[in-house]
Amino acid sequence: MNGRTVVIVGGGSGIGLEVARRAVAAGARVVLGGRTESRLRGAAAELGEAASWHVVDNTDQESLAAFFAAVDRVDHLFTPAASYTVGPMRELSDEEAHSPFVSKFWGQYHAVRLALPKLAPDASIVLMSGAASVRPPAAAPAYVACNAAIEGLGRGLAVELAPIRVNVVSPGTIDGNLWRQRPEEVRQASFAQYSAQNLLGRPGREGEVAEAVMFLFAATYTTGSTLYPDGGYALR
Ligand SMILES: NC(=O)c1ccc[n+]([C@@H]2O[C@H](COP(=O)([O-])OP(=O)(O)OC[C@H]3O[C@@H](n4cnc5c(N)ncnc54)[C@H](OP(=O)(O)O)[C@@H]3O)[C@@H](O)[C@H]2O)c1
Repeated sequence: MNGRTVVIVGGGSGIGLEVARRAVAAGARVVLGGRTESRLRGAAAELGEAASWHVVDNTDQESLAAFFAAVDRVDHLFTPAASYTVGPMRELSDEEAHSPFVSKFWGQYHAVRLALPKLAPDASIVLMSGAASVRPPAAAPAYVACNAAIEGLGRGLAVELAPIRVNVVSPGTIDGNLWRQRPEEVRQASFAQYSAQNLLGRPGREGEVAEAVMFLFAATYTTGSTLYPDGGYALR
């Protein structure tokens, strides 16, 4: 990590910011991306001189191109940015059903493609998925399929981009920024259900996912893998 550049599209909060904290503590420079300037500014102020930021929307390829044009070099890339609607096929509009693919799948695909000219020869990439890919917690077929597709994308990109390594992190339910934005009763009900459905009996923490991402950055013989920091959810 020392002296390396870690680029995090979606680094202004949540799991991305936890990865940024660990990378800076390990001696890296970090470049944060997200849509909200004030959030990025606040995150960078906390991280200090090693952090810089640029506004980016991962659903807009021109915005992603401008973001990577402003970055000198990418040693490690993490792409947790996404905004989407989750729900049953019978209830969602087509636009809502497409939204996980638009932002979470194609957003990450385009981020990797537009980062290519800046990737170091020994770079590593970690894509963000979610453990719903292997065990759907509720009726949300497009979201489930999107996460399964991202895990396939990681394997496909690992083949194409080698020796650049590409891996995927696929967390279970995490008690952090994303869930804090949802109504309290929904949050508590989901955490109770998730706690009953995994082996460790609780939701995860953002730092526990960040540890998995840092491992994948550093794991020089690991590529095409998906890691599940999910408390054993997929097994229960
Ligand atoms: N937390 C969980 O329980 C959980 C479980 C499984 C998977 N995940 C996945 O983890 C990822 C991140 O979640 P998190 O928990 O870290 O939540 P988070 O704090 O909401 O992080 C998402 C970050 O991405 C940015 N972002 C959202 N849409 C964007 C876009 N179109 N372009 C650029 N930046 C965008 C957000 O900032 P702006 O809004 O300012 O752009 C925010 O900083 C998501 O893909 C989610 O599916 C989370």
